[in-house]
Amino acid sequence: MSAPTAPVNVVVTGAAGQIGYALLFRIASGQLLGPDTPVRLRLLEIPQGVKAAEGVALELQDSAFPLLAGVDITDDATKAFDGANVGLLVGARPRTKGMERGDLLEANGGIFAPQGRAINAGAADDIRILVVGNPANTNALIASSAAPDVPAERFTAMTRLDHNRAVGQLAAKLEVPVTEIHKLTIWGNHSATQYPDLYNAEVNGKSAAEQVDEAWLRDEFIPRVAKRGAEIIEVRGGSSVASAANAAIDHVYDWVNGTPEGDWVSAAIPSDGSYGVPEGIISSFPVTSENGAWKIVQGLDINDFSRERIDASAKELVEERDAVKALGLL
Ligand code: NAD
Ligand code: LMR
Repeated sequence: MSAPTAPVNVVVTGAAGQIGYALLFRIASGQLLGPDTPVRLRLLEIPQGVKAAEGVALELQDSAFPLLAGVDITDDATKAFDGANVGLLVGARPRTKGMERGDLLEANGGIFAPQGRAINAGAADDIRILVVGNPANTNALIASSAAPDVPAERFTAMTRLDHNRAVGQLAAKLEVPVTEIHKLTIWGNHSATQYPDLYNAEVNGKSAAEQVDEAWLRDEFIPRVAKRGAEIIEVRGGSSVASAANAAIDHVYDWVNGTPEGDWVSAAIPSDGSYGVPEGIISSFPVTSENGAWKIVQGLDINDFSRERIDASAKELVEERDAVKALGLL
């Protein structure tokens, strides 16, 4: 018999919220890290959210998950991130009526800078952070900048939901199983400027762009994917929850366990200047994961249309970065 594996400490912020509720049971069941890895959950909430988090912990106990080694609940980021191996940063300040973008960035700076400092102070050496809370890319940049001792590439933001949405749309259009779709990329920001790229994608081994007409690709597919969050809010009467939790699981699972040979996924990671995306911003790229680290896929053909779209989304990220810099958050 092999020695029992030590539990991996997984922090979920905003754990009593909607995405938290959809996420925690899947993590505890082994879907985040795999069926052989025990987990200890750390639920971080604001004081008003602690009681609800305690209620979720009761339900986790009632689920008798064999891989769940324990659940801790706290409103103290330093305690939550002490010894943390994985952090899912879900809790964020939503935009409310009358709030300008600058106000939103500032309010989130007040959350993600202290969490970054807590990660810097006590997280384990192998810490991996996924920011889900919006504006996710820039929140990740704020947290990373507050954690100078943690390698920047450990801070990532979620565009896997956009990636999965694009796969779903293309599969429906071509009436093929999602498993036939490969090499799709979301570039840029998790916002309406994101660019879902079909020019490098393949369906049944052939170019995806050549299997759809250009008007559909440019006027229906791209805006549908980029504005899917708003569509869900309109149709469901609430923002994406289970699909967002599912994408977070996909992102961390692939990061830790690797991506399939010959394919890639999308994740927002710090730019190294690849594809002309300004260095340092956290932007979505085509990525593979090898030995537990994301790597940007190199050498893809970028046509003029793609160039314009990638540049526009990168420009938005640079503006967000400059705005938080002006607020003293970087
Ligand atoms: P929610 O309002 O149901 O839950 C958020 C929770 O975060 C609340 O329980 C709140 O108490 C908690 N919280 C707030 N500030 C906190 C802090 N400083 N520390 C710890 N907890 C804190 O929201 P939700 O539906 O779960 O969505 C969470 C976030 O995810 C939102 O910002 C949403 O816009 C974003 N989101 C991102 C994607 C993506 O693809 N990147 C997709 C869907 C939703
Ligand atoms: C989504 O893409 O569904 C969310 O980011 C939308 C939102 O504003 O919460």
